[in-house]
Amino acid sequence: MRLLMLGGTEFVGRAVAEAALARGWDVTVFHRGRHEPPAGVRSLHGDRTAPDGLAALAGEPGWDAVVDTWSAAPRPVHRAARLLRDRAGRYVYVSSCSVYAWPPAAGYTEDAPLVEGASAEADRTDYARDKRGGELAVLESFGPHRSVLVRAGLILGPYENVGRLPWWLTRIARGGPVLAPGPRELPVQYIDVRDLAEWILGAVERELSGPYNLISPRGHTTMGALLDACVRVTGAAAELRWTAPEVVLDAGIEPWTQLPVWVPPGSDLHDGLHGADVSRALATGLRCRPVTETVAGTWNWLTDIGGTAPRRPDRPPVGLDPALESKALAINSRDD
Ligand SMILES: NC(=O)c1ccc[n+]([C@@H]2O[C@H](COP(=O)([O-])OP(=O)(O)OC[C@H]3O[C@@H](n4cnc5c(N)ncnc54)[C@H](OP(=O)(O)O)[C@@H]3O)[C@@H](O)[C@H]2O)c1
Repeated sequence: MRLLMLGGTEFVGRAVAEAALARGWDVTVFHRGRHEPPAGVRSLHGDRTAPDGLAALAGEPGWDAVVDTWSAAPRPVHRAARLLRDRAGRYVYVSSCSVYAWPPAAGYTEDAPLVEGASAEADRTDYARDKRGGELAVLESFGPHRSVLVRAGLILGPYENVGRLPWWLTRIARGGPVLAPGPRELPVQYIDVRDLAEWILGAVERELSGPYNLISPRGHTTMGALLDACVRVTGAAAELRWTAPEVVLDAGIEPWTQLPVWVPPGSDLHDGLHGADVSRALATGLRCRPVTETVAGTWNWLTDIGGTAPRRPDRPPVGLDPALESKALAINSRDD
């Protein structure tokens, strides 16, 4: 198999490139050259935002599949898909569940209503429309039977450059009383980046097409199992102080960003971020490793790189200020 990765050197793209190499595929990565590519790939350089940025691809003989992780304005996806439509068998676009009109109802499938106002050739708008615009750009050139739209939910695992699981691991490694947003049994849905990568490669091999919600099944894990795994893997003297959602919110803490992964139960946020139906993905080969493996793999990577996770500059920082955590912990003990 000949694979062209547009991107391929940071988080999701890197995991796809490494998984493809492990399958013995011939992998070319196309990027600007600011990040080191995985050993064993061939690199082509160019800037997708520049008018002639794809020139390095022009003389190439072709690929069985393209995987594209672009997440800004749709226009670069449009340009790449046009250039590659006769030179690649399949175009896999890493999209997002953000393309559904907000808030999607719990249990939403790939048929749920989509955001409106997206365009394949748009300049940057907002994340949801950018991702939907990217999908439209791929569909325009590759049609419905040669396009795979990977609507990922929360992605965790080694190389994570948003900083969500790295923040929890770092916080818990520091030890002491840790604000644990409840309830313990809160269902959590995410996809390990390595499972996402394997599904994508399988989709290429099986010649799949169409949109797929790509996350673990609902309730694959819980907030309690996730944080317990962080305590175990770090070996930290951390005490998880389970705190009622209303106490967390009353302390002025932002779900999802200040306490990564967590959103209050029974909210639109929980339905939208931890409530997708993934029957299609499961029926087409999705396998999800246990949360303990995701946490251990991320911790091993984080300690290997010296404990500081990379952070993409186009996403806001995540994590809770220690003073705000202390405030919420104080309210929690007062209520006990
Ligand atoms: N994180 C989540 O929870 C989540 C959830 C749902 C969906 N998603 C989606 O998952 C994907 C994550 O992708 P990723 O960033 O991890 O992929 P990646 O392919 O590992 O990294 C981005 C790549 O783009 C290259 N690049 C950046 N700007 C470029 C330019 N102007 N021209 C050419 N290449 C350029 C970078 O290399 P150089 O710097 O060397 O150029 C890098 O290789 C996104 O599509 C995101 O929307 C994420």
